[in-house]
Amino acid sequence: MPLVTIMASISTPLSFLSTTTNVSAATSSFPLQTKRHRYPKSKRHISRVSCNGGDDNIISKGNRRDVLIGLGGLGAAASFTYNPFAVANPVVTDQNSCGRPNLPAGAKPIPCCPPKATNISDFVFPSNQPLRVRKPAHLVTGDELAKYKEAIRLMRALPDDDPRSFTQQANIHCAYCHDSYALDSTLPPQVKVHFNWLFAPFHRWYLYFYERILGSLIKDPTFALPFWNWDHPDGMDIPAIFTDRRSSLFDAKRNANHQPPVLVDLDWNRRGVDTSGEVEKNYAKVYKCIADVKGPACFFGSSFQAGGGVSSAAGSLETLHNTCHSWTGDPTDPNGEDMGSFYSSGRDPIFYCHHSNVDRLWTIWKEKFGGVDLSDTDYLKSSFLFYDENKNLVRVTSEQCLDQSKLRYTYMDVPIPWQNAKPKPATNKAQRAALTPTPLNPPNLPLVLNSITSFAVKRQFKSRSKEEKAEREESLVFEVAFDKSKDVKFDVLVFWKGDPTQATPKDREFAGSFVNVSHAPNAKDTTAKFIIGITDLLDDLEADDEDNVEVTLVPQYGVVPVTINNAYVSYDECSFKT
Ligand code: C2O
Repeated sequence: MPLVTIMASISTPLSFLSTTTNVSAATSSFPLQTKRHRYPKSKRHISRVSCNGGDDNIISKGNRRDVLIGLGGLGAAASFTYNPFAVANPVVTDQNSCGRPNLPAGAKPIPCCPPKATNISDFVFPSNQPLRVRKPAHLVTGDELAKYKEAIRLMRALPDDDPRSFTQQANIHCAYCHDSYALDSTLPPQVKVHFNWLFAPFHRWYLYFYERILGSLIKDPTFALPFWNWDHPDGMDIPAIFTDRRSSLFDAKRNANHQPPVLVDLDWNRRGVDTSGEVEKNYAKVYKCIADVKGPACFFGSSFQAGGGVSSAAGSLETLHNTCHSWTGDPTDPNGEDMGSFYSSGRDPIFYCHHSNVDRLWTIWKEKFGGVDLSDTDYLKSSFLFYDENKNLVRVTSEQCLDQSKLRYTYMDVPIPWQNAKPKPATNKAQRAALTPTPLNPPNLPLVLNSITSFAVKRQFKSRSKEEKAEREESLVFEVAFDKSKDVKFDVLVFWKGDPTQATPKDREFAGSFVNVSHAPNAKDTTAKFIIGITDLLDDLEADDEDNVEVTLVPQYGVVPVTINNAYVSYDECSFKT
């Protein structure tokens, strides 16, 4: 939906209250309890990303049906419901299954598959390698900058069919994000590294090999990719090293209005052309997506397995990173190329520094905020293929990247100015009670999100004990249907009493934003969940004794229709509990 239309359809604050009396099926059957709780059975993984049968694109991939990946033979019979005790069925990339990518409209057709290798070796941890120290990009100067530019220049100079070349490296992202690899013997869905738990490990590996290739091209094993330190005021604009037109680090396809000194807006809503991001708002945004997140599924995203156990929900790390993609890409290109669409984003050298910071935030989450890595076998054994600096195709698993020191790289220790930036509530309990005496109704589902909408979502439990809260993160879950090749953003406010257009991430009531960056269009893959942990949030709002969560959805941009098929409160989806 064009922004103008959204804005036109936004009503005045008091007039968007939903009037339906329908009760969400997900939440109606559990009486409110305040004693020791029995949790309802998970409804976490009952929806698949894609359901069945191929579209044209898939048919063109020929004999994928014969390709068995991992234990994919079990695929056809596998249950759609996640079962942690089931036979392991991790996603295992098969080079022979690589086919034509599924590109968004307006994209120039390109083949994304890497050259086929006759031999695939298993990854071996490097020995005797010096530690590579990744620095903030805005601090990279002199000799270091010269080396970085030279490395990228040499990579650009490699012939396109060299798997280490600039083009092939960019295409890795296209292949893994645009449905090139088959997931298993059942068609579709395809391997996807967004909107699920593969996001963090895939991108860590991607950078690892990219960095090693650059280092080998300049014969410097200490070469380290800088990180775009957009969580610090000094790094919040596009780092100067990327803006010199004569440099190999330059990419012409970027938003002309977002050049330095304009600061990145991590909550960018596409209003106006020249607005600069705001430091405090960016802090609040990073705090919410990193410091505030406890449940592993809420941080890493939903599970993604071969053999049918597929769901689709981005973690907060991924969601935070999405806005930066859209903000950087050129809005005059059909899909915001380069950074604004996943098939093309690897063509901008800044992509790798953006992801270096994303990877760093994963590390910070573990080191400073008690984050714990996933231990599910299907996660640990999921695997990807990358060419190394010697042009050998290597199989790596997610498990192998969890200990950064074994990969011999680290991040320079720089200040983390957002670590205490916990937002404050705009209203307290007493003020809330005085402001809206009328209770909200449940949502009228399915809800087409074309205007600001408020409704109540019933909670199964309230006033849980400290132990229960620590064990099970309460979350607010939305099942969203939308076109994945289009950018979408809507914000979720809870217990918000003012004008919803005035809420910002600096308000505690601003629970989070659903953000999609253009990727593979697929008529069979149009749904995702949005899961937000709310245990601490409700405590901070003095709302843990409420029977309902009062929700306001604020559409910001996106193409109609974005539909909310379900909205409910869960006690297991953030934490992978069953
Ligand atoms: Cu695979 Cu920043 O995206």
